[in-house]
Amino acid sequence: MGKFYITTPLYYVNAAPHVGHAYTNIISDCMARYKRLAGEEVFFLTGTDEYGEKIKEAAQNKAEDIQLFVDRVMKNFENLWKELNISYDFFIRTTQKAHRQVVQKVITDLNEKGDIYKAKYHSFYCVPCESFWTDTQIKDGQGKCPLCKREVEEIEEENYFFRLSKYEEWLKKYLKDNPQFIKPKIRYNEAKGFLDNNPLVDLCISRPKSRVSWGIEFPLDADYVVYVWFDALLNYICAKEWYGIHPQELKKWWPADIQFIGKDILRHHAIFWPIMLHALGLEPPHSIFAHGWWKFEGEKMSKSKGNIVNPLDLIKEIGVDALRYFLLREVSVGMDGNFSWEAIVNRINSDLANDLGNLVYRTLNMTEKYFGGVVSSMQCKVPTEFNEAFISLMENYKGLMDECKFSLALEEIFKLIGAMNKYIEDKKPWVLWKDKKEQELKEFLYSLLEGIRIVSLHLSPFIPQTSQSINRQLGLKAGDLSLGDREWSIKGNFNTKKESPLFPRIDVD
Ligand code: ME8
Ligand code: MG
Repeated sequence: MGKFYITTPLYYVNAAPHVGHAYTNIISDCMARYKRLAGEEVFFLTGTDEYGEKIKEAAQNKAEDIQLFVDRVMKNFENLWKELNISYDFFIRTTQKAHRQVVQKVITDLNEKGDIYKAKYHSFYCVPCESFWTDTQIKDGQGKCPLCKREVEEIEEENYFFRLSKYEEWLKKYLKDNPQFIKPKIRYNEAKGFLDNNPLVDLCISRPKSRVSWGIEFPLDADYVVYVWFDALLNYICAKEWYGIHPQELKKWWPADIQFIGKDILRHHAIFWPIMLHALGLEPPHSIFAHGWWKFEGEKMSKSKGNIVNPLDLIKEIGVDALRYFLLREVSVGMDGNFSWEAIVNRINSDLANDLGNLVYRTLNMTEKYFGGVVSSMQCKVPTEFNEAFISLMENYKGLMDECKFSLALEEIFKLIGAMNKYIEDKKPWVLWKDKKEQELKEFLYSLLEGIRIVSLHLSPFIPQTSQSINRQLGLKAGDLSLGDREWSIKGNFNTKKESPLFPRIDVD
């Protein structure tokens, strides 16, 4: 049994989360659940990024004490993850004492290695992006932030720097030797482009307290706080005080196996982060997976733009698993997605209500009607009618899941669902019943129930609540699921208990 460490970004608590944040945590959760199913020991980390100018401004706009403000907004994230069934193992907040201490330890260590120095700092700062830009980058952006195209402020002051440039050649070689490091390919190329197009300049990692007071105190100089990105990235090795305090735990979990981010924060994760780790004598993560953006009417959904869709409203409207399913099925991870009501309703009605919901409902209906809900285990082969889809699922599921090809994995599952629905139509069980072919009818229903059990197992990383409901209706014992149980005809008897349809159809209007 291996270990699998998976992380999400730490979200800013300047406003409540939207569908974009929900998306990152849903794909991470899908991966975490799949890895647990596959028998790996998983550590799944998420949390909130609570320092920086942006947060301070947001609190001031509400005339609230900053710590009280972040305590309040952070709960929105915690609550959403609960509503979405996000199975994280630890929630880290950058304002936690443990995190602050570890960040200070890292800076002290880097200073001892000679990687930190003080110098004059001139740059242009974008508050919404919490990012600074050089003269050339601002020229390229026509005087605005090259990322979000908003106003920047010019800043000149003494600050502390981390020697990024010292490690430029190392990173170039690392990227060249490790093409799996950044996924998908398009983001790998983008990261290489950052390095090829501009020489790396050292990273300014402090802010004078006179200007920015909301941050972790800089350990080398009490007049400064730590730059928010430098502090936030370190969370991935700070969880549960791994770095510096529990080195054995760090050794067990680090390097992370997959770090999910959105493509907006690629530069920080593909350039700064591996260099910070390398300078500390740690390996970069196995892979960083940058997904695309959810857009609303063509524009990136964003807290600061305000064009957001509230996931809590959606959950109320369509249910948590319908939302998870839509986001995981509609686009392949890495591509941008367009959020639309029409697309959601179509997915729910055709895939969930018609295909999956009907299959389960009809099968359980027949099992109750013909055999009082009891069909015992029997030795029979996978029916030829759905053998092809069954084999394809067995062969392809793991590979697709390992590669984060969640939408394609769902397609595989739904091919089997489709084949099973067709099997019911072709076999005409009501005729078998009329002709009193009891054994044949029983075998037919056993095959469907067994197929549904296997479908439910494979669906569990995507729509865990639905999978649980199906298992309950099949009369299976609750408990840990395992991919080891995916084989045909290995689980005992079915003692079904039909509930209401899994997904009611949604009225298009
Ligand atoms: O950048 N579509 O926090 P943040 C898809 N604190 N995903 C989206 C999205 C959209 N429209 N909008 C946001 C930060 N996301 C830093 C991170 S990590 C050490 C520090 C998701 O609140 C996506 O995962 O701006 C993106 O990378 C992240 O939220 C940015 O969240
Ligand atoms: Mg952002």
